[in-house]
Amino acid sequence: MKRSLTAKDRLIVALDVSSEAEARALIEELRDEVGVFKCGLELFTSCGTSLFALAREYGVRLFFDAKFHDIPNTVAQACRAAVNQSVDIFNLHATGGSAMMEAAAQATAAAYQELLKAEPKASKPALIAVTILTSMKADTLSDELKVGLPLEKMVPYLAQLAKKSNLDGVVASAQEATAIRETCGDDFLIITPGIRPSWAEANDQARIVTPRDAIARGADYIVVGRPIVKAKDRVVAARKIVEELAS
Ligand code: C5P
Repeated sequence: MKRSLTAKDRLIVALDVSSEAEARALIEELRDEVGVFKCGLELFTSCGTSLFALAREYGVRLFFDAKFHDIPNTVAQACRAAVNQSVDIFNLHATGGSAMMEAAAQATAAAYQELLKAEPKASKPALIAVTILTSMKADTLSDELKVGLPLEKMVPYLAQLAKKSNLDGVVASAQEATAIRETCGDDFLIITPGIRPSWAEANDQARIVTPRDAIARGADYIVVGRPIVKAKDRVVAARKIVEELAS
């Protein structure tokens, strides 16, 4: 499933803007510099599926950061819809459980087979799990949600559950990447946000890792938002990160 990735392929830029016009401007500016664009809930709630049409118009790869979490049938149908929109990567919450994840994986595979009939060159979308949100603190998990395993064991446990449920990988902090790689093996995608090059501000990210360090810890893709989106020269910022990844 995993293809060999260039430094540019590995860079996902978060389209953390609220209008289609801003997203279009970012895609136009950066489409030759980065591998994937990420559409999160803010942009999706603002623009809806016009974002998917925009990605298709420019021929860029899209990560729909949807974080589905519902009963198995509903999530399965949402996955079908995501495949039919030709998104390249999309995700759900592993805490929805194995029945939900298995239904999602089955529906994704079936929808992809259908899609191939109309578009024989369509590439298989990657279905990814969010384990525990990086904003969640260890004591929230234990004291408030009454989860029995400590955070550092819960994350690789959920990653393994996602793998057993036929998902393609996980979104996780780079700090968790090494444990996930050890538990789930090489043929499992790891996407890491919370990335800050040495020249960028941390903003509100608490546990930050540099692009090169994230890859060294086992990440396949890195998600970068503000260091590129808010840079004075976004092309230069993206190029610096790709250079760091390639070096
Ligand atoms: O601007 P910054 O680089 O911090 O943006 C990171 C992106 O990754 C944002 O879109 C954020 O929502 C997303 N993200 C994250 N941490 C997670 C999951 C997603 O920062 N655990």
